[in-house]
This record gives sequence, C-alpha cells and structure tokens, in this order.
Amino acid sequence: MYHQPVMLPQCLDALQIDPEGIYVDATFGGGGHSLGILERIKGGRLIAFDQDEDAKKEADKIDHRSFTFCKANFRYLKKYLKLNGITEVNGILADLGISSHQIDAPERGFSTRFEGPLDMRMDRSTGSSAETVVMTYPEEKLHKVLGMYGELKNARTAAKEIVAARKKAAIKTTMDLKTALKHVAAKGKENKYFAQVFQALRIEVNDEMKALEDFLHQCAEVVAPNGRLVIMSYHSLEDRMVKTFLKTGKAFGDLEKDFYGNPIRPFEQVAKLVADDEEVRVNKRARSARLRVGVRNQSAVSSRQ
Ligand SMILES: C[S@@+](CC[C@H](N)C(=O)[O-])C[C@H]1O[C@@H](n2cnc3c(N)ncnc32)[C@H](O)[C@@H]1O
Repeated sequence: MYHQPVMLPQCLDALQIDPEGIYVDATFGGGGHSLGILERIKGGRLIAFDQDEDAKKEADKIDHRSFTFCKANFRYLKKYLKLNGITEVNGILADLGISSHQIDAPERGFSTRFEGPLDMRMDRSTGSSAETVVMTYPEEKLHKVLGMYGELKNARTAAKEIVAARKKAAIKTTMDLKTALKHVAAKGKENKYFAQVFQALRIEVNDEMKALEDFLHQCAEVVAPNGRLVIMSYHSLEDRMVKTFLKTGKAFGDLEKDFYGNPIRPFEQVAKLVADDEEVRVNKRARSARLRVGVRNQSAVSSRQ
C-alpha cells in the first residue's frame, strides 16, 4: 500500500464537507484522504496538491470529474487555485511530512533503516539534495540546521564531525552519514539520534518550515468565512507553527488586538485531536500525529492582508 491514511474519519468530519463545496487536499500522497473527500462530494470540487512525481502517478489513477491534481508545492496554493479559476474554498486539509511510500523507498534516502543515496527531495525535479547540504554547507550552517530542525543537543559537535568526515571521504549515502556520526550519537539511543539528524536534513532540503508558513498565510486568504482548516503534523516544530498561526494569524509572534481588544486572527481553533489507541496499534505513524482544526472567522483579516 502506498500510504495508510492517518485519522481519516476525524479529518473528514473536521472538514464538515458540503457536497457542493470546494476543497483542497494539500498533500495528496497516496490519495487516502482525497478519496474520502471525493466520496462526500456531489457537485463540488477537490483540488489536490503534491510535489512528488510518484504521488502524481497515484493521482493519475483517479478518474473523477470533481477532481483536479496539481503537481506543485502547496506554498503556491493561491497561484494554482487561481489557475483553476478558484479564489475561495470551503476547506483545506494538509497531512504534513512524507508518505510511507517515500520513506520505504531506499533510493529516496529518507530512511535511516536503508542504505541509499542522500537525496531526501520530495520533488526530485528541483532543488539540492541532502548530499549537497552535508557536503557543501559551512560548519556553522550545518550546526544551525541540526540544532533548529533536528533539535539535537550536540548539534555543534555533530556539525564538526560531518565536516571532519567529509574532508576524508565524500558523504554520499545514508550509511556514510551514520558512520560519520556514530561516535557522537547518544549511546543506546542511536536510532532516535539518527532519526533527528535525518529529520533536520529533510526539513532543510525541502524548505519545509518556510513552505508551511507561506501556505498558512495563503489559507487565511482563500478559506471562506466559516470554512475549515485541518492540519495534521508529525513533529513539534510543525505543530508549534500551526498552533501559533491558529492563535495569532502569524507563524511567529504575538496575537494582535483591535482597538476594542478583539483578537485579530483569521481562524479560531476549534479542536485538537490525536489518534486513538486502536489506530496507533495498527499504524505506528499515527502515534505522533497532531490534528488541529481551525474555523475561518467571519470578519478577521490575516496579518498579511
Ligand atoms: C503524509 S503524506 C500524505 C498522505 C495522504 N494524506 C494519504 O492519505 O495518502 C504527505 C505528502 O505530502 C507531500 N508534501 C509534503 N510537503 C509538501 C509541499 N510543501 N507541497 C506539496 N506536497 C507536499 C509529500 O510529497 C507526501 O506525498
């Protein structure tokens, strides 16, 4: 299976689908959530995004007149909606991160479990690979990436080790990288350590935090009053950004209030959910899922508007 959708009924319920409404699935993957939305649509539309060519191949299998697929980064949400003649939507779903298909493919380099090239690009038609990051970034920049995105406690040491290792031999594969860091990985917790390193590189390679920030601001501009924003994240950096955005209308910073003391924010968070024990038992990925649901305020404007 390409990907087992996480918290599918909860996501569909959170969208409160109007059969005639227009919806966006910003992260199509294997299409599990998209198919669920399509089943509830009658006369409406679903516009799905994914930047991965493999996801596009999955989307090509869907023959449904309400369905449109955009092989694009969701950071260009507004532009692609406009290309499809849409300026306002009833709901947006984003199931962030990577799919099981991506992580289980050794040649993509996402997994610490397999030997493979250090690629980690979701969109392989553009951008720099993790190998380029590891081989060319100055030590200080590597330190920042590992500390900020991997939340590594010894990010400075890890960056130093990478730079020392790459002077001796090129770091080209997942195993090369693990070998370079094996002396500084927390003893007995190597798997977790490498997972944090890989997470940091993946976020950097795909510019994930900036893409999410751009996307959130555009959601505020296209979701109709009372429309829904449903976002599922799998690590604390993303969840923190979504939480702050729902609270303040900004990816970073404090809530602003109008002259009368009313909060100025585009969405009101109405739910925060995690997967139930049974789902976590059958699908390990669900364990770290955090689902936040926002409803577009009637009058509030986004800080960018
Ligand atoms: C967790 S999977 C989604 C799984 C999907 N909900 C399903 O049920 O099959 C995340 C997907 O989002 C895509 N993705 C992540 N960030 C993206 C971005 N900024 N723009 C477009 N697609 C993105 C990935 O390529 C991946 O296929």
